[in-house]
Amino acid sequence: MNTLFVKDYDEMSQKGFEIFREVIETKENPIVSINTGGTTRGFYKLLVEAVNDGLDISNTTIFVLDEYIGPKNEVYTVYTYIHENFLDLVDTQPKEVHFIDGSIDNPDAEIERYKRLLDEHPRDFQLLGLGTNGHIGANEPGTPFDAEMFLAQHTDSTIESTMKEYDISREKTPTAMITLGFKEILEAEKIVLMISGEHKAEATKTLIEGEVTENNPASILQQYENATVIIDEEAASMLEKTQ
Ligand code: GLP
Repeated sequence: MNTLFVKDYDEMSQKGFEIFREVIETKENPIVSINTGGTTRGFYKLLVEAVNDGLDISNTTIFVLDEYIGPKNEVYTVYTYIHENFLDLVDTQPKEVHFIDGSIDNPDAEIERYKRLLDEHPRDFQLLGLGTNGHIGANEPGTPFDAEMFLAQHTDSTIESTMKEYDISREKTPTAMITLGFKEILEAEKIVLMISGEHKAEATKTLIEGEVTENNPASILQQYENATVIIDEEAASMLEKTQ
């Protein structure tokens, strides 16, 4: 795992986007998996600017990391977020966008459908954010490292983060989501995990200085040379060393 220490949110977004951009520009038919949340809004701003400035995404296939269980057009869904922050703002569209349908009655069938698609489309790039409890996607603490795509129940801290991020009541906040498992996440050729803010400092410390254990989901990245963790000063504030 490589670590990249940056000053602030903007520089984190910039560095994360640079790695993504190189994948888009060097692969003939890039296949990428992207995520949502507060951490990635700056990344999408840069992506939209770049596409409207001529970055060619017409050969790019997009997958998503996860999707909340709930009606498709709710404010918190990955579907809504990716439209509002990316697809509705760009002049040209990607070749294909594959969303996970979290509105269906039979999540198992949806998981099977999406897993087949993922098998047919090895990813060149996976974008990640970090939960305050160390989760990636919705692989919460305790999820086995060999987990494949599954229906995950959120912990309380994750439910609270979702409430805050989308400014919604607890009743309205989803408590479960379909997520790529560690297996599908780690299959990507390049993985970028962006971390910003003081509220992530403890999770960052556990990720960087803690042991590799299922209680600390993101720690698995320590074993992956193709993973880059981009950490801003606030998130790095509890680390022993930042060089
Ligand atoms: C959420 C999502 C992830 C996201 C992460 C960090 O629960 N399931 O896809 O990357 O947690 O979110 P944020 O960037 O808002 O802190």
